[in-house]
Amino acid sequence: MAEAEKYEIKRIKTYIEGLDENMQGGIPDGHIVLVRGSAGTMKSSLCFNILYNECISGKNGLYISLEQSTKSILKHIVNMRFDMGKVNLVEITDIAKLSAQLTDVKKSNKGNLVMCDIGAIRKQVKGMELGPSADWLNTIKNIVKKMKESGELALFVLDSLSALYVLSKFDNPRASLFHIFEYLRDLEVTTLIISETRPKRADAGDSVSHGQFDVEDFLADGIILLELAERQRKVTRELSVVKMRATNTNIDVWTLEFKNGKFKVLYGGQPPLL
Ligand SMILES: Nc1ncnc2c1ncn2[C@@H]1O[C@H](COP(=O)(O)OP(=O)(O)O)[C@@H](O)[C@H]1O
Ligand SMILES: [Mg+2]
Repeated sequence: MAEAEKYEIKRIKTYIEGLDENMQGGIPDGHIVLVRGSAGTMKSSLCFNILYNECISGKNGLYISLEQSTKSILKHIVNMRFDMGKVNLVEITDIAKLSAQLTDVKKSNKGNLVMCDIGAIRKQVKGMELGPSADWLNTIKNIVKKMKESGELALFVLDSLSALYVLSKFDNPRASLFHIFEYLRDLEVTTLIISETRPKRADAGDSVSHGQFDVEDFLADGIILLELAERQRKVTRELSVVKMRATNTNIDVWTLEFKNGKFKVLYGGQPPLL
């Protein structure tokens, strides 16, 4: 095998037109990438779009939401014209039936898109005497591991790290975070972790606030930043790939558009047309 071939990196596309071609084809397989931005910057939609497209191509994907119910996400998704008929949608609502539900995953010949909202599961866990922080992490770890064991898991989306912090009240957030990243790395699952920041305030002169405990910045293999930019009372969406290990990426700021069910970036490094 040629040396170059041996080290050739498999990549997962971002399915954002104009972006993949500017980052050697996408996100390296096995990477843990933070998708960061303030509320409404389409973090969830963008991650869902990647997952959905991977599933359309026959692969399995997992979306764990700690903020929004599966119902609410699906409503949004259908409104954005994603055709859920093209994938095998598995909604996990009962942790006790997890193994049985994942068996269905094995049977399907379409790509499996497994959605799990911890809110639904929380109602069940409530009655159980579990430590406050161990609960969520163990539940999440359990699902990812089971899914990985039940077949190939192409991509895992965790929505969001911010919600996990709130729910978990970690005694030592830095150590817990390190532990989560290590766990995912050991499982070799390509992961998108959504993290919500405060909105950028031009008057305060602050750039987008960084991760809650900054450790996530260097633990992550990549950071995709989504922002809303206001110019003369017109607001546009912006995207930049701030960091992507093992990738020659264009770090310019792009305008992000979502039209006809597709994400697209434009005007990288140029002033946008208003
Ligand atoms: N059909 C649509 N086309 C374009 N944008 C949409 C559509 N539906 C909703 N949106 C935008 O998506 C935003 C919410 O996206 P979401 O992924 O939930 O954001 P976040 O997860 O960053 O809070 C809404 O505020 C709205 O502006
Ligand atoms: Mg969201």
